[in-house]
Amino acid sequence: MQELELKSTIHVCQMEELTADEQHLIELAIEATSRSYAPYSHFHVGAAVRLANGVELSGSNQENAAYPSGLCAERTTLFYAGAQYPDVPVRMMAIAARGTDGELTEEPTGPCGACRQVIVESETRAGQPIRILLYGRKHIYVIDGIRPLMPLCFSEF
Ligand code: THU
Repeated sequence: MQELELKSTIHVCQMEELTADEQHLIELAIEATSRSYAPYSHFHVGAAVRLANGVELSGSNQENAAYPSGLCAERTTLFYAGAQYPDVPVRMMAIAARGTDGELTEEPTGPCGACRQVIVESETRAGQPIRILLYGRKHIYVIDGIRPLMPLCFSEF
């Protein structure tokens, strides 16, 4: 039997190593955590995207008493971007979260599987990888596209 080894590269950075645009997008994602509606999980996630035309949009997780009806910050933001600017590619996405203690998480928060799949399709629409910035107080993960976080993903569409 053969083994297939899957390798992903993630850059581990400090804020000052990022460009001004990247730092700003992270600030927007952090700000967006304060507009999250999370009375059930108390986990407040913010996301922000920068489009090819320079427009920046943010969103947050929006929960619902019928739990599956809620939506993650990443999909709220990407669907909002698609609804407002259907023909403008997404170039960059930042994600930040506050835990139940109200503090920004020490470690970066990664998108859930469903959000990763939606990011895959946003990349297909964009025709190029979306730079992903996952914020943590300790360090920031910078990833060139969703593929390192989503190997063998469904992309046959
Ligand atoms: N959540 C997100 O907003 N993004 C993710 O990628 C993971 C989870 C939200 C969903 C729910 O409102 C809360 O965090 C706890 O799972």
